[in-house]
Amino acid sequence: MTIGYSGAEKIDDLLDPAQGLVSRHVFSDPAIYEMELQRIFARCWQFLGHESQVPRPGDFVSAYLGEDPVMLVRQDDGSLAAFLNVCRHRGMRICKLDAGNAAGFSCSYHGWAYDRRGKIVDVPFGEMYENAPLDDSWAAVPVAQVASYKGLIFGTFDPDAPSLVEYLGDMAYYLDVLVDRREGGTELVGGANKWIIDSNWKYGAENFVQDGHHAFASHISALMAVQPDEAEVTDFPGGCTVSPGSGHGGGWFEGPTLEMVVRDPVLLRYHQDVVRPESIRRLGADRDPVHNVAAFTVFPNFSFLTGVQTIRVWVPRGPNHMEVRSWTIVDKAAPQEVKDAQLRLVRTTFSPSGILEQDDGENWSMCQDTMRGHVSRQLNSNMRMGMGKRVDADIAVPGRVMHGWNEEPGRGFFERYRHLMSEPTSRAWLER
Ligand code: FES
Ligand code: FE
Repeated sequence: MTIGYSGAEKIDDLLDPAQGLVSRHVFSDPAIYEMELQRIFARCWQFLGHESQVPRPGDFVSAYLGEDPVMLVRQDDGSLAAFLNVCRHRGMRICKLDAGNAAGFSCSYHGWAYDRRGKIVDVPFGEMYENAPLDDSWAAVPVAQVASYKGLIFGTFDPDAPSLVEYLGDMAYYLDVLVDRREGGTELVGGANKWIIDSNWKYGAENFVQDGHHAFASHISALMAVQPDEAEVTDFPGGCTVSPGSGHGGGWFEGPTLEMVVRDPVLLRYHQDVVRPESIRRLGADRDPVHNVAAFTVFPNFSFLTGVQTIRVWVPRGPNHMEVRSWTIVDKAAPQEVKDAQLRLVRTTFSPSGILEQDDGENWSMCQDTMRGHVSRQLNSNMRMGMGKRVDADIAVPGRVMHGWNEEPGRGFFERYRHLMSEPTSRAWLER
């Protein structure tokens, strides 16, 4: 046990993912957090928004790449661009709104004006810059790459990062269960929920990458409360996990969990009679089990739940806090009553006031709180569940699949994390 960690140089000493050991310093140390902003969040692809939020030229939404505020803007030619939402004059936000439509943006501090691409088009008292012209080098800093995967828009500041499709790799196969299960694709409804949890961002990411088994202890009372009077939850459903590589991962329940969580008959009927048959036709039967309430994380901080249909970003807010930004995602082709019911489901289960979300937030913030203690901080988190077990190949889906609850995808998440944190150059993208 190391007493008194004080720097981020020896990240390798803090992580032994192959042995399922993750030092709690990586959840709490300020120096490591600073390194994450540079080596994870300034490089990896992260979720910016959904195509349905920006259908027309001039539509924009605000987002974050790590702690850097950015704007995603639909361009006049239909393409997408994103730039740092930071005025080049003194650093005020160029735009204070979360979403809208604009011909351009005017900073509210001294009035510098930017076009939809982030180029400066006007400044008050412009003649006074005669000898120090505001050329294009003073434009808003562009997000180097912006790309959409079937409606989900991601961006990265790193021009050397692999393309989005390469970055997702086999994870795209599982994303399809969310975004490509019906003809016509998806849309977001009901706007964003945003809230702060007093916990490191990795608690959310790690929970969705592998941790279906926490539901047994964390959520059983909430689940019991919504069961019919005569029902008892005696056998907690088993699970299956997958590590598609590159730190992505997820898992799904193998019992009738959808029926436990989704109590609305409108949604259950829609799922059973419309979604599953169409999805099997479009995507094949192999992915059918993934519909049965599945949680996934796209490395580093974009997560989603199929069945419930929530997507979210765990925005880092210092080592001890995260901002959750979540949305409800529905099939565009779904009838309005289904969309309304889906939104109600997310609000009552996985929102700041949701019966299941509150269990998670309490767990994560208490885990974080214990790290205030000097001795507590020296301990390793145990991610050894399922170590040494056989990786199953009996279902024809990509990635390392394991039946039975286990923490294999979390070990993959932290392997990827360690790799990126140890390699500051673009070689990190080659040596995967
Ligand atoms: Fe934006 Fe001054 S900070 S115009
Ligand atoms: Fe949970």
